[in-house]
Amino acid sequence: MSAALKEMAPEPHDFRKAMGSFAAGVTVVTVCHEGRLVGTTVSAFSSVSMDPPLVMVCLKRDSRTLAALGQAGSFCVNILASDQGDLAYRFAKSGADDRFALTVVEAGVGGHPLLAGAVAAVECDLHAAHDGGDHEILVGRVLRVAVDDAKAPLVYVRGGFLNA
Ligand SMILES: Cc1cc2nc3c(=O)[nH]c(=O)nc-3n(C[C@H](O)[C@H](O)[C@H](O)COP(=O)(O)O)c2cc1C
Repeated sequence: MSAALKEMAPEPHDFRKAMGSFAAGVTVVTVCHEGRLVGTTVSAFSSVSMDPPLVMVCLKRDSRTLAALGQAGSFCVNILASDQGDLAYRFAKSGADDRFALTVVEAGVGGHPLLAGAVAAVECDLHAAHDGGDHEILVGRVLRVAVDDAKAPLVYVRGGFLNA
């Protein structure tokens, strides 16, 4: 990186604060790899394209979920409901081996877990992976979706849940 560009980089605290003011939904990205259930909380999720239907998630390079997803070649994005804040924290806790212990799941396409009580499930094949700095940008081609219109989504902003 050139010295001029480096000088223009924001302070990490300011960058985090600015990005934290962008309200985002909360998902749990799940993978079943070799019979093992893996998943983590992800707010860096977005739709990308309608035709073909593509979405993207960003996962930290050291994420265990990223490793399993890369090997499985497919995954499920569970969009959490407003009463699933505890679940979001459980799936974010590092070192917690059995994140699925208190959660009812159903096997979706490729066996990836669909979490009971979520607003929506978006099941994908891994379409592409791109460099995203200390994260990896994973583009998924959507195979199937399920939506529960009766539920309100969980919203994460300024380091907390808006309507939990
Ligand atoms: C609300 C919330 C949103 C998060 N969003 C992301 C995200 O978009 N990408 C990411 O890599 N980690 C995100 N995390 C952090 C991961 O969930 C956390 O680092 C987790 O321990 C990673 O688990 P793994 O290594 O088993 O995949 C988020 C955590 C919380 C609480």
